[in-house]
Amino acid sequence: MIPIKNKEGIVRMREACAMAATVLESLKPLVRPGITTMDLEEAGRAEIARLGARSACYGYEHGSRRYPAHTCISVNDEVVHGIPSFRRILREGDIVSLDIVLEFNGYIGDNAFTLPVLPVSEQVQKLLRVTREALDLGIRAAQIGSRIGDISHTIQAYVEGNGFSVVRDMVGHGVGVAMHEPPEIPNFGRRESGERIKPGMTLAIEPMVNLGGYATRILPDGWTVVSADGSPSAHFEHTVLTSEKGPEILTVPGLVPAKSA
Ligand code: MF3
Ligand code: CO
Repeated sequence: MIPIKNKEGIVRMREACAMAATVLESLKPLVRPGITTMDLEEAGRAEIARLGARSACYGYEHGSRRYPAHTCISVNDEVVHGIPSFRRILREGDIVSLDIVLEFNGYIGDNAFTLPVLPVSEQVQKLLRVTREALDLGIRAAQIGSRIGDISHTIQAYVEGNGFSVVRDMVGHGVGVAMHEPPEIPNFGRRESGERIKPGMTLAIEPMVNLGGYATRILPDGWTVVSADGSPSAHFEHTVLTSEKGPEILTVPGLVPAKSA
């Protein structure tokens, strides 16, 4: 069963999601040649603390491992869950995915964005544009009465129609009091499959798109997911509230003061 948020849950989701978006927004201007992914981690950690929130990534348990950072920063062929490092220096031509998941007042907001370190090739620009548009289309498919598979199918059709592939080993998800709630939201699937969308669902919709094949593997660090063929990978994500008025993106900055209040 997909959890339905009540009024108070929705208010709290708005706050957590606005904060997650504020943190993500604060990192974007820092992306330039010469900075390290650890610089982004430290800025992200500081901004999360300034807002009085808590990273939902830090200490996150998967099997016997705990995620060691407050942000996920994934470069080039890294799809998701890249661990920030002092040694990873951004260069012109790179792309960098920033993924921020935070908890505030018991609720979780999740969002991600991929930026180019300009200049990047035309193919890579297209990869970013198509992944961002696939997210927009996926969100628009999250209408009351439609099904989860309609989101999945919409994203897959758009991405593959543009000659790229959707990652299959990782999926979007419900989000709320836990980072991962039902349902799973694959970025591939059949129309009119899966659970029916009702008002009050909070869904993290997150296409992960490879320029080459869809296969992935995990680096020996146990976290970093990379494309198996080494091709660049992009990731855009929003947390979305379903409602009779249509899907509403919750991960937008604005409810939160831009600088310390
Ligand atoms: N947005 C990622 C996810 O939904 C964040 C994971 S945090 C980590 O899986 F700790 F697993 F890295
Ligand atoms: Co997510």
